[in-house]
Amino acid sequence: MKIAFIIGTRPEIIKMAPIIDLTQKWGLEYVLIHTGQHYDHEMSQKFFLDLKLEKPHYNIGVGSNSHGKQTAQMIEEIEKVLTHEKPDVVMVQGDTNAVLAGAVAASKLNLAVGHVEAGLRSFDRTMPEEINRKIADCCSSMYFVPTEESALNLAMESVDPHEIFITGNTVVDACMRHLKIAEENSNLLSELDVDGDILTLTMHRAENVDDPERLKNILDAIMELEDITVVFPVHPRTLKTLENFGYLDRLKNSAHINLTKPIGYLDFLLLLSRSKFVMTDSGGLQEEAITLNVPCITLRYNTERPETVTAGGNILVGSDKTKIIETIKRISSDNELYKKMQDAENPYGDGSSSEKILNALLKFEKEEKLHINSPDNIMKGLSRSILTIDNNITVEEYEALNTSSRIQLVFQREKIIFPSPELNLKHKKILLNKY
Ligand code: UD1
Ligand code: UDP
Repeated sequence: MKIAFIIGTRPEIIKMAPIIDLTQKWGLEYVLIHTGQHYDHEMSQKFFLDLKLEKPHYNIGVGSNSHGKQTAQMIEEIEKVLTHEKPDVVMVQGDTNAVLAGAVAASKLNLAVGHVEAGLRSFDRTMPEEINRKIADCCSSMYFVPTEESALNLAMESVDPHEIFITGNTVVDACMRHLKIAEENSNLLSELDVDGDILTLTMHRAENVDDPERLKNILDAIMELEDITVVFPVHPRTLKTLENFGYLDRLKNSAHINLTKPIGYLDFLLLLSRSKFVMTDSGGLQEEAITLNVPCITLRYNTERPETVTAGGNILVGSDKTKIIETIKRISSDNELYKKMQDAENPYGDGSSSEKILNALLKFEKEEKLHINSPDNIMKGLSRSILTIDNNITVEEYEALNTSSRIQLVFQREKIIFPSPELNLKHKKILLNKY
C-alpha cells in the first residue's frame, strides 16, 4: 500500500506527523506532499525539525493568495503529483485550503481519500474552514473522526457508518510524545524571562484579526488584564493586521504583554503546559489545552470542538471585551471552578490515534476497499425505516443477518448513538437503510 500525505499549514504538519512517523516505523511506502501554503521558517520548516520529519518529497510552493487562486493552483499541482505517484490512498488532515485541494484533486482521480479529523462542524458557513471540511468529507471514503460527536455529524449527513472510524485526535499523540522532549530541551521560559502566572494568547482567524472592531475589543481586553503575563506568539496573518490597524506599538509598550514570533512546537508545548490559561481562536489549541489540563478561553462564538465545552474545559467568549475580562477574573477568583476546568476529561483519546488510523487503513486495503470503482450491482431501491430491537444483538451481528442493510443511527430514548459494530441493540431503536 502506498500512502500519499498532503500537508500545507502548521497544524497539518503537527497532526499528520505521528501518522507519518508510524508509517515509516511499520515500513509502509509513502510520499509526502507539502502544498507550501505556510512557508515561513517558523510556520513550516521549524516543525519538520522539531518533529524530526523528513523533508517532503514534493513542495508545490503555492504561497499566499486569494482563496480561489491558492486553491486552484494547489488542485492543479496536486493532480500532477498524484497522477505520477499513483498512491493507493491520499490522506488529508483538518480543514484548510490544502485539505480542500487535496481531497478534490484525489477524488476526481478516483483515488481513495482518508480524512483525518473528519466530521467536525461549527455550523457557521462564513468560516472558510467549515466549507473546506464539508467538501473534504464529500470527497472522502474513509473518515477518521476524533469523537462520537463528529461521527454522528457524518452519520446524520448519510455517510456510511462502515467508513467512519472513531480514532481520537492525533494531536494527543503529538502532545504526549513531545512534551517530555520539550521539558528536557526547551529554554523558552528563561529566554522569555517571565515569572508569575502566564496566559498564552494566540489568534489568527480571519473573522477576528481581519475585523478592526473585533480585533480592537479583544486587544482592549488583553490590555486590561494587567495582573497576568500574556505571552502572545503572533501568527503572520495577525502581524499584518496589527501593523495595518496600528496596534503593534501599543502592544509592544504594554509591560505585561510579551509579543513573540510564532514559536516552535517543543517550546510551545512547554509554554502551554506551564500556562495558567490559554486564550485562543485556534482549533488545535482548544484540543491541546484540554489534553494538558489548561483551562481554555475561546475567542469565538461557536466551535467545531463542542466536546471541550461540554466536558467543562473550554468557555466561549467571542470577541466581547467585557465577557473576556469577566471570564478570566471569575475563573481566577474561583478555585473550585478553575480546578473543574483543569480536570475536564479529555475527549480526544489516549494518544493511540495514529495507530488506530493506520490499522483501519490496512484493514480497508486487505478488504480491497481502497479501490474506488463504479458499482456493477443493480440497486433495486432504498427504503428507510425505524425499528425497535428487543433481543441481545450487536450492530455487526444484525447487519450480518440482514444483508443489504445498514444501521445508520441508533436511538436510546432521547439519546442518539453512533452504530459502532460492537454496540448491543437490545431495547434500542434503529434507523435502518435497506438497499
Ligand atoms: C490557514 C488556514 C486556517 C488554519 C491556519 C493555521 C485556510 C483557509 N486557512 O490560515 O484554517 O487555522 O492556516 O495557522 O486554509 N503568511 C505568511 N507566512 C506564511 C503563511 C502565511 O506571512 O508562512 C501570511 C500571508 O500574508 C497570508 C496570511 O498570512 O496572506 C494568511 O495565510 P493563509 O495561509 O491564507 O491563511 P492562515 O490565516 O494562515
Ligand atoms: N503552535 C505552535 N506555535 C505557536 C502557535 C501554535 O507550535 O506559536 C501549534 C499549536 O501547538 C497547535 C497548532 O500550532 O498544535 C495550532 O495551529 P494554528 O492555531 O495555527 O491552527 P488551527 O489549529 O487553528 O488550525
